[in-house]
Amino acid sequence: MQYERLEDPAFSATLIAWQRQHGRHTLPWQNTRDAYRIWLSEIMLQQTQVAAVLGYYARFLERFPTVHDLAAAPVEDVMAQWSGLGYYTRARNLHKCAQRVVAEYGGVFPSDPVLLAELPGIGRSTAAAIAAFSSGTRAAIMDGNVKRVFARVFGIDTYPGERKTEEAMWRRAEALLPAADIEAYTQGLMDMGATLCTRSSPDCTRCPMQPRCVAHATDRVKELPVRKPRKATPEKHAVLLVVVHGGQVLLEQRPAAGIWGGLLSLPEVAGHVAMTEDDVPELDDEAVARALLPLGVPESRERLNVVTHVFTHYRLQIVPVLATLAQRAPLAADGRYLWLDTGKIADAALPAPVKKLLLELLGTDAQGRMF
Ligand code: ADE
Repeated sequence: MQYERLEDPAFSATLIAWQRQHGRHTLPWQNTRDAYRIWLSEIMLQQTQVAAVLGYYARFLERFPTVHDLAAAPVEDVMAQWSGLGYYTRARNLHKCAQRVVAEYGGVFPSDPVLLAELPGIGRSTAAAIAAFSSGTRAAIMDGNVKRVFARVFGIDTYPGERKTEEAMWRRAEALLPAADIEAYTQGLMDMGATLCTRSSPDCTRCPMQPRCVAHATDRVKELPVRKPRKATPEKHAVLLVVVHGGQVLLEQRPAAGIWGGLLSLPEVAGHVAMTEDDVPELDDEAVARALLPLGVPESRERLNVVTHVFTHYRLQIVPVLATLAQRAPLAADGRYLWLDTGKIADAALPAPVKKLLLELLGTDAQGRMF
């Protein structure tokens, strides 16, 4: 097997010894082999910190002391008990899972992690934790905390959310499992991730793994695990006309669909924008002239600096072209266009970057009219 060489008894022995001495031993779901209680804690602890879970856990068990009580309860009662804990799919799955454990297993949770993972709300890692804590079954967990510990200790510098890296981490986790003491080992991984090897303030001086930690040895504790690689934001370009005449600027109603749907904006020059070799938008003079033709007789034309506006999914590079008119043409009868006094720009329903551009360019109009 590819990862056989990674089997390392010293890793698990170190972790187990540390957990016994420094780990957590008095959490309410510890010191029991009751699979119902362990299952409930593991579901509550998914995406939620111990401190937030404690009160909910106690109240939930008081209201639903056994898996039979939970399975027989109306789902509304389960939701009410869960209310405030968040991620409510967990509560619906919890109820469904209880009903299946009662119907299919007579109310006794299976000890095989493969069977556990077939139940609602129980993924591979949660199944392994339940099996380890309730029956000492040797199975590997792999949650966000364990990924962080592994990334640092083994110096894994690819993104753990990526499939290949995650698969390699699972293989490592399985290869590292101890022959015995799976409970202390599993709890040790959780405890290390939650109390020492934290995301933003790791306490390396107290860490039992420090002498073998690749991230520590190479001074990369802060960098590992690597963050999700950001996809380059796609870029779009738009040539917008700032047509001015007699202290007014020409605005156009945007089509209902698409960006700035239904808002007033500047007339846009149709066609896509070509790029120069230096990645600068290139103006198509003919397209600009065609766009100006129905609006009036141009006097001057000037390309202005590119304005960048960042949307959630892309970056818009606005190439403004300032055009002064010698004479206005009568506007199309469909009401698409309107002339706005430059002094009224601040109050107009314009997209933010367009308003900013116009105010910077024409905003001094109240005193000294430039156009
Ligand atoms: N997070 C997930 N499972 C846990 C457990 N058993 N103890 C503490 N924190 C946990």
